[in-house]
Amino acid sequence: MLGKHVDPNKVTVGAVTGLSGLLREATARLERAGVASPRVDAELLAAHVLAVPRGRLVLIDDIRGGKATEFLDLVEQRSRRVPLQHLTGVAPFLGLELAVGPGVFIPRPETELLAQWAIEMVAPLPAPEVADLCSGSGALALAIAAQCPNAAVRAVERSLAALGWLRRNTSGTRVEVIAGDIRDVPIPAPLDLVVANPPYVPSTHRVQREIDFDPREAVFAGVDGLDLIPDVISRAAALLRPGGWLGFEHDESHDVVPLMEKDFERVERHLDLAGRPRYTTGMRRG
Ligand SMILES: C[S@@+](CC[C@H](N)C(=O)[O-])C[C@H]1O[C@@H](n2cnc3c(N)ncnc32)[C@H](O)[C@@H]1O
Repeated sequence: MLGKHVDPNKVTVGAVTGLSGLLREATARLERAGVASPRVDAELLAAHVLAVPRGRLVLIDDIRGGKATEFLDLVEQRSRRVPLQHLTGVAPFLGLELAVGPGVFIPRPETELLAQWAIEMVAPLPAPEVADLCSGSGALALAIAAQCPNAAVRAVERSLAALGWLRRNTSGTRVEVIAGDIRDVPIPAPLDLVVANPPYVPSTHRVQREIDFDPREAVFAGVDGLDLIPDVISRAAALLRPGGWLGFEHDESHDVVPLMEKDFERVERHLDLAGRPRYTTGMRRG
């Protein structure tokens, strides 16, 4: 019991503020709100408020006054489907923690597959030149830079709001930010690798409520979701050296192979863990 009167739509804090009780109540609240992973989210919010790793929560049962109120306020916001990452201010990506918030796309776990492919492609090269087109928070650029210490990595982004987060995340790293439109901003070339996670969701698609918090220009790309992808392919073709590689994410409904065949060979579609086409790669023809 958290209080004398518990409104079913609201978590209230009463005399008992033990963490395990609050977590149970918060989980129930998030479940009622339709949050996909209510217990995990409740624990991550508690860990954030208490400034401990989630695994340490089992060792804690005392959560007092201000901290309990702060936790319940975040649970309330999460139940209104504010993304978890906006509430904690960070998004994990391939072992990194990226600062995120309003104005920038939250990096998704499935994009780690593209990042891993990119790292495997450039890791053997002595001094690879890399560009991440449509960089957002910098997830792909930063993951590649972190794991390929010899790579020169540029992150290209045009949204002013996203650029603020990108500059914050890349500050003190080797990633160079290029502000502008991927279609015409000057980018040093020739490159060994281009990666991109452009906006690609068809504007007619129904999406999870959390996606309302991502900037529209980061997510949607016309009725078929293909407004920008042909430009990603042609810009990459212009920037890559013969034998250089392009890899980019796209909607599962897209067959981008025909768009790549003119300038790329060894074109391959890659599936995500659920078996859906998630990204496509190809090597610049000589
Ligand atoms: C789906 S988000 C991807 C962000 C990041 N790469 C990631 O994987 O988390 C797409 C990004 O492309 C940016 N963008 C859209 N059109 C662009 C354009 N023409 N030139 C540069 N950036 C663009 C958006 O502002 C957004 O940050």
